[in-house]
Amino acid sequence: MDLLQHMTERARSLKRHVVLAEGTEPRTLRAANRILAEELAKVTLIGNPAEINELAAAEGLEAIGLAQIVDPNDPAVIARYAPVLLELRKAKGMTPEQAEKTAADPLYLGCLMVKTGDAYCMVAGAENTTGDVLRAAFQVIKTKPGINVVSGAFIMIMPEGVNYGTDGIMIFADCAVVPNPTAQELAQIAISSADTARNIAGIEPCVAMLSYSTKGSGKGPDVDNVVEATRIAKEMDPCLDLDGELQADAAIVPVVAAKKAPNSEVAGHANVLVFPSLEVGNIAYKLVQRISGAQAVGPVLQGLAAPVNDLSRGASWEDIYKTIIMTCNQ
Ligand code: ACO
Repeated sequence: MDLLQHMTERARSLKRHVVLAEGTEPRTLRAANRILAEELAKVTLIGNPAEINELAAAEGLEAIGLAQIVDPNDPAVIARYAPVLLELRKAKGMTPEQAEKTAADPLYLGCLMVKTGDAYCMVAGAENTTGDVLRAAFQVIKTKPGINVVSGAFIMIMPEGVNYGTDGIMIFADCAVVPNPTAQELAQIAISSADTARNIAGIEPCVAMLSYSTKGSGKGPDVDNVVEATRIAKEMDPCLDLDGELQADAAIVPVVAAKKAPNSEVAGHANVLVFPSLEVGNIAYKLVQRISGAQAVGPVLQGLAAPVNDLSRGASWEDIYKTIIMTCNQ
């Protein structure tokens, strides 16, 4: 069974409650319809009920009748969630009026449903920018204990015959959120990525902290940052298989590792690649995806206290369907 099939079966047995903040967005509606028809999750759509029902009828999306619809303009909805938002944000200067207005924003409302336990997870981003989805999640859901930076990983599924990672599965991070991580942040990204490898991709993490240098071959502040991040990450989880700084070839090719980092247990076998910056991570995952034909599943937002995932605005309805399944597995 491949990873997506495995996640689908797991979602079916977990039957989690997902809130889709963009309930009137056609691709989202189509994805929700399939999730409901296949009984993979309970679904709440945020949006105007008449508009949602009209769109579903026009497209023949019969299973949408099984979704719960939450209207952001319903005063009872705002009365329930605005006080929760106010409590979370009043120290940052939010007034009761601002809380009422912000709670009616579907992205904040979806996060508030997750925060209060009224839903398990949220998926959005088919029509909102990454920044807007992330900001709502940062402010409402916040980070999990021991982590104060949220990052985005991709589960890279290699094509047939490409034997990197574990059974062709690798984790790449951070590819979505933190532009220039400090050493402390990079260390947290490594720990979160190891969690993603174990808990979502189902592989035992072997983490490489990537650089343009292997074990002192190059010098400079960027290398120093990765060396320091490696030290902090080892301190955070001494039992984790993690090493750095390593070049990409030393991290994943055993013959190169034998030459460049002969004493490293990780070099040559890494299945989790932690990139030194967002620029590198984002470019690397897109190149590997396009040139090798690997599937890139994600980004999986890691480090949040509850699962929220962001979609690309170019996502197809099938991409949204897969992201919902993945989020229900988190
Ligand atoms: N983890 C946790 N909390 C964070 C993080 C983070 N990585 N970044 C910001 N925050 C918190 C801040 O602490 C702050 O909290 P507070 O209001 O309670 O004090 C709040 O979020 C807002 O912080 P700002 O500094 O105002 O953050 P800003 O909104 O300017 O930027 C953002 C955050 C949008 C995530 C920014 O870092 C960003 O644009 N990153 C790149 C996103 C991107 O374009 N990715 C590439 C495309 S995605 C793809 O291709 C897969």
